[in-house]
Amino acid sequence: MSVSSSDSQKKFDEFFQSMESDIFANSDSVHKEEGPPVTESNFTFDFKPEELETHLNKYVVGQEHSIEVIATKVCTHFNRMKLEQSLPEDERVAGSIKSNILLIGPTGVGKTYIIKLIADKIGVPFVKADATKFSETGYVGGDVEDLVRELVHEADEDIAKAEYGIIYLDEVDKIASSSTGHSIDVSRSGVQRNLLKLMEEADVDLKTPHDLASQVEAAMEAQRTGHVKRKKINTKNILFICSGAFSGLKDIIKKRMNFQAIGFDSLDKEHHNYSESLILGETRTEDLLEYGFESEFIGRLPVTVVLNDVDEEVLYQILKNKYSTVVNGKKLDFRAYGIALSFTDGALRLLAKRAAAEHTGARGLLSVFEKVLIKYEKIMPSLHYTELLVNSEMVENPERKLKELLINDNIKGFRADFFAAHNIYLEFEDDALELIQKRANVEHKSFKAICEDLFHDYAYAIKLLKQEKFTITAAAVEDSAGYIERYIRENFKETHTQSESENQT
Ligand SMILES: Nc1ncnc2c1ncn2[C@@H]1O[C@H](COP(=O)(O)OP(=O)(O)OP(=O)(O)O)[C@@H](O)[C@H]1O
Ligand SMILES: [Mg+2]
Repeated sequence: MSVSSSDSQKKFDEFFQSMESDIFANSDSVHKEEGPPVTESNFTFDFKPEELETHLNKYVVGQEHSIEVIATKVCTHFNRMKLEQSLPEDERVAGSIKSNILLIGPTGVGKTYIIKLIADKIGVPFVKADATKFSETGYVGGDVEDLVRELVHEADEDIAKAEYGIIYLDEVDKIASSSTGHSIDVSRSGVQRNLLKLMEEADVDLKTPHDLASQVEAAMEAQRTGHVKRKKINTKNILFICSGAFSGLKDIIKKRMNFQAIGFDSLDKEHHNYSESLILGETRTEDLLEYGFESEFIGRLPVTVVLNDVDEEVLYQILKNKYSTVVNGKKLDFRAYGIALSFTDGALRLLAKRAAAEHTGARGLLSVFEKVLIKYEKIMPSLHYTELLVNSEMVENPERKLKELLINDNIKGFRADFFAAHNIYLEFEDDALELIQKRANVEHKSFKAICEDLFHDYAYAIKLLKQEKFTITAAAVEDSAGYIERYIRENFKETHTQSESENQT
């Protein structure tokens, strides 16, 4: 006899239920924690808007206005939830709308960064996901509920804690059903509709309906501990923050405002960055509807925040900020090899300028830093340097500066060896260095190897002259044997007579 999967699910459910009733029948100490709010005591929140604002402004540059709004709404949301916990039923506002937030702003201006900083600071469970995950895989339905289940996981399985978490949905503009398309994108508006329920209030099953494994686990746990854990999580107090770049929204707004007529167009061309957020700042619900959102969806995001673009000056300020993730991150990369990395102001200005040209906001910073420093990061750990100062020349021409460092390191190596072996301190004239490097390139040898070829006999000669220092000139490189011979001839007599006269006195 074959058993279909639905049969086995049914059998399992029966088994699970009978086991539950056995447990409750057999033990007095068992209590069942199922159903509505457990929460009360668990949730503590103790931040004021200005406190959070100050914290965010320490890290985030050029978004003062957005931060003001976000910090205030987030704090009020959680403080209000805290208050409502303690209010008698009749004083609570029925069906009140919570302050879910919609962040609009181009790539790399700090949307995710701000929300991450908030979640870390206030210590509530936090889940971030890309809305595209739900449209692209074609999942419509229970999938968005995974976000809520994930929140429980983030809260170390503490459901009460998870019920006061933050769900951050990025790239939400990608679930707009494009109004320019011929047919409405069913799966996209489907995702919006599924989110609607969660964003307002829904009970989400902690176990996915057909997850046999987790049900078995729950049954075992119930038998072991005598507890049947709550299986649902309510989303009423969960704060939803959505964000996206909303490319194309600008055009919708411009069209609505009949933009050319009020002369913003020339502004647009001249100050591309400035005008972008200026226009987006005019966003109205109707624009978002035209962009492809359901009115109910937008209705559940009552707080709209438009972030500023980051221009060259802001990028520079981001780098100058002592909490700069890019600069500090790179410093740590080099410190891992025992090299202290530092930057001149000019170098930072130049890097900011390059990053601005990439039009990817602060994300551009990371890529320009990599472009300049990647070779250094590879080669320097094998050299003898303990510090590296990045200046504008180095940003302009990373290869040339690296070559210089390599040569210097080679010289250092050769000089150190020479000194250790012979107690003689060698110096190189610039012309000589250039010639040696040329030769090294032609013969495909290291700088040090060329020096060893050329100057292996020099130690003996220099000792003969009782010198502790010797300067390598271009002439010495061109004809090393002839040069030292002449040098001895010219200097030996002198040294000899000198020492004789010294002996006489
Ligand atoms: N305004 C800012 N001040 C300081 N650092 C910033 C700012 N904006 C971005 N950054 C830096 O750039 C990184 C990337 O920014 P973030 O992830 O917030 O971009 P985003 O706005 O979410 O862009 P996307 O739309 O591509 O997701 C951050 O981790 C942070 O280090
Ligand atoms: Mg982001």
